[in-house]
Amino acid sequence: MSRYEEVQSRLRNAPKTWLITGVAGFIGSNLLETLLLLNQKVIGLDNFATGHQHNLDEVELEVNAAQWQNFSFIQGDIRNVEDCQKAISLHDKPIDYVLHQAALGSVPRSIADPILTNSANITGFVNMLTAAKDAKVKTFVYAASSSTYGDHPALPKVEDNIGKPLSPYAVTKYVNELYADVFQRTYGLNSTGLRYFNVFGKRQEPNGAYAAVIPKWTASMIENQDLFINGDGETSRDFCFVENAVQANILAATANESGKNHIYNVALGDRTTLNELFASLASALGNNGVDYTKKAIYRDFRAGDVRHSQADISKAKSLLGYQPEYRIQQGIDKAMPWYIKFLTK
Ligand SMILES: NC(=O)c1ccc[n+]([C@@H]2O[C@H](COP(=O)([O-])OP(=O)(O)OC[C@H]3O[C@@H](n4cnc5c(N)ncnc54)[C@H](O)[C@@H]3O)[C@@H](O)[C@H]2O)c1
Repeated sequence: MSRYEEVQSRLRNAPKTWLITGVAGFIGSNLLETLLLLNQKVIGLDNFATGHQHNLDEVELEVNAAQWQNFSFIQGDIRNVEDCQKAISLHDKPIDYVLHQAALGSVPRSIADPILTNSANITGFVNMLTAAKDAKVKTFVYAASSSTYGDHPALPKVEDNIGKPLSPYAVTKYVNELYADVFQRTYGLNSTGLRYFNVFGKRQEPNGAYAAVIPKWTASMIENQDLFINGDGETSRDFCFVENAVQANILAATANESGKNHIYNVALGDRTTLNELFASLASALGNNGVDYTKKAIYRDFRAGDVRHSQADISKAKSLLGYQPEYRIQQGIDKAMPWYIKFLTK
């Protein structure tokens, strides 16, 4: 039995109370779905900055009525410390684990408006850390980012070797790690940072200027629009299916002492170029009856983007028992029917 299977069975037998911030977003709503299916009690906090009520409605359809009763939602803003305190003390039962996902993602968004990104990603983060240490939560797991590797050239990326950040977004995610470490040393708050590498899957936003590459291209293909590749298409990423990221969160929250207070890469340990990704998406859509026959249009590289990204995931494997269950093509195949349904309804 894998550690993930063991933990899931333990949680089913003795349910815990979780707080998910950013619960109406892509990763947050996938975490919610899995935890409710495991009969956990979940409190969710979101201000709908980039998340949606329809993501929560969809989770409601995926779980049974009793499981949905285990979910309480607070519409609130992590930039407001009272909202964080309210979420953490909503029930008389203390929160066991916080999964902090709320933040403004996207490198280009942070370049366009660094003040806004800073307020959600740094002020909001410190507010949540403070509320968590006051409420004595067992473990504070938070969404860190592979952007923290910045200009460090080594591949694959190993947690201890980081370079200089290349965008305001990357600065905020690195500052999160520094704050979490200081809160552990100063107040004894256990925390674990998960450096996500290009997570993708159902409910990832396909629309808008700041959409990530997989949902953006999938939408272009389904709607038969022109599709643009920034650079020569040989830029590569370690794409990670969302269910692997959900596994990492649950393992990190429930880790024993030796697994806590670390930073972990959360990825697959593979590298896929944008040209390969284009072919994979077109082929997966073709298998679902959507044929995209246009050629990609190449344009300039985008500011702040790193050229290659690939994770070494051995630390998460050895200390958390992380075993990603989905390779990129399996994840793409699983996500495509959702995108077709979502974009053609
Ligand atoms: N998706 C990825 O590939 C990826 C990679 C690295 C890191 N991350 C990090 O993972 C986390 C989740 O990302 P996602 O892809 O699910 O993005 P998302 O935009 O779908 O989810 C973020 C959620 O946080 C909420 N939020 C934003 N500001 C808030 C505020 N001030 N108060 C309350 N809620 C607020 C949004 O409304 C949204 O529901 C983020 O911290 C992001 O930086 C994501």
